[in-house]
Amino acid sequence: MFNKRVKVKDLLASEPTGQEVTVMGWVRTFRNNQFIALNDGSTNNNLQIVVELGMLDENTLKRITTGASLKVTGKAVPSLGKGQKMDINATSLEILGDSDAEKFPLQPKKHSLEFLREIAHLRFRTNTFGSVFRVRHALAFAVHKFFNEKGFVYMHTPIVTASDAEGAGEMFRVTTLPFDNPPRNEDGTINFKEDFFGRSTNLTVSGQLEGELAATAFSEIYTFGPTFRAENSNTARHLAEFWMIEPEMAFCDIEDNQNLAEEFIKYLIRHVMEHNREDLEFLSQRLAEEEKQLPQDKRSEMGLIEKLEFVINNDFERITYTEAIDILLQSPAYKKKKFQYEVKWGIDMQSEHERYLVEKHFKKPVIVTGYPKEIKAFYMRQNDDGKTVAAMDILAPGIGEIVGGSQREERLDKLTERMKEMHIPAEELWWYLDTRRYGTVPHAGFGLGFERMVLFVTGMTNIRDVIAFPRTPKNAEF
Ligand code: 4AD
Ligand code: MG
Repeated sequence: MFNKRVKVKDLLASEPTGQEVTVMGWVRTFRNNQFIALNDGSTNNNLQIVVELGMLDENTLKRITTGASLKVTGKAVPSLGKGQKMDINATSLEILGDSDAEKFPLQPKKHSLEFLREIAHLRFRTNTFGSVFRVRHALAFAVHKFFNEKGFVYMHTPIVTASDAEGAGEMFRVTTLPFDNPPRNEDGTINFKEDFFGRSTNLTVSGQLEGELAATAFSEIYTFGPTFRAENSNTARHLAEFWMIEPEMAFCDIEDNQNLAEEFIKYLIRHVMEHNREDLEFLSQRLAEEEKQLPQDKRSEMGLIEKLEFVINNDFERITYTEAIDILLQSPAYKKKKFQYEVKWGIDMQSEHERYLVEKHFKKPVIVTGYPKEIKAFYMRQNDDGKTVAAMDILAPGIGEIVGGSQREERLDKLTERMKEMHIPAEELWWYLDTRRYGTVPHAGFGLGFERMVLFVTGMTNIRDVIAFPRTPKNAEF
């Protein structure tokens, strides 16, 4: 019954020559008991269905309400009205599912993004979220396309893990032990030997360590999976559950790593520019309208599409951490005490500092390398100066950090020494250290935060609006 259905997007791309078609979708609006705007999620453009007066009985007409689902068969003809190229002159119309107009929360008017977050199960049915999630899909597809074309192997790294890749300790515990009366050791601590995996386990914060194992066999791999962080950051850039893409390359140094990351980001943008033009134009318009309410100095200097074009057509700026700190110290913002957080060599740059660099100073994406070792993970390759590591962060306008990565410490002695200093238990990571024992190679990799990339490309401003069902502190609805 359903296989003869045509997608609205395909239909609108074809010529209306009186052909008979069957379409299915949800009613966006119904005017004058005659014109139905039908949407099936393939595009934001609705299909206009024309119901001839007298064709349907009174009762059926009443059931054509916003949100109801329909199956319509009719003839595709050039539209007489303005605003669309074709109409479907219905010959039969079936209501697949009613939608009580009194109760349906989505009215054909503008709703705030905050309100739509509360009805995230229905927000896909709006133009904004239609565009956002089609773009998100296209970006995910392009990720695989990019790495496949380069001969990288896609690794599925574990989601439940006993190691803490970033050493930051902000992990969600996975356990089947009873909370009220967990088994205890003699000293009163919880006995995880009794737990499901016979040890303490968590949700992964990153697939990198396992990715490195695979890279030292396949040369080039990538992961693309969910990661979890129990940091209590209630910001527009943080999720407790987010998706990350982590390529890992053997025979690769920090410069190759930067080149790949830049090429990758540009490739993703180009793919969406080529395949999702209509959605980008809609989102660009949406952003422009939203920004009209902001004071002049808070508005973006470029429109969304203009910004994306600019990014793909220009080199990213590349600076060292030390240069970044110098720029901040010389900045008018610093001199006028506009920064809330302290600026000096050694700080972990705050979002206000990163945004100053990309939005005010360089006005383009910036790759910062050579961070102080104290603020970075144990696995980063130590530079000869004894103070910095071969780390790289990519900062994007409007987003801040979008990529974090590094060349890895491939020298066993240097690595174990650093682990000792940072109290990372070497016994637990015996398998990781084995890669440095057996055929170690210079290697590097990075992690791109997928939702931050979707934010950048869609021009949305809150990360909760680019993932279907956001998980944030005190929120796991749906
Ligand atoms: O900089 P991070 O913590 O790096 C890693 O996890 C490394 N293991 C990556 C690697 O070298 N293979 O995270 C990488 C990126 C960040 O730059 C940011 O874009 C994103 O992941 N990210 C988050 N996105 C949303 N919500 C959060 N809480 C995020 N934390 C990091
Ligand atoms: Mg980082």
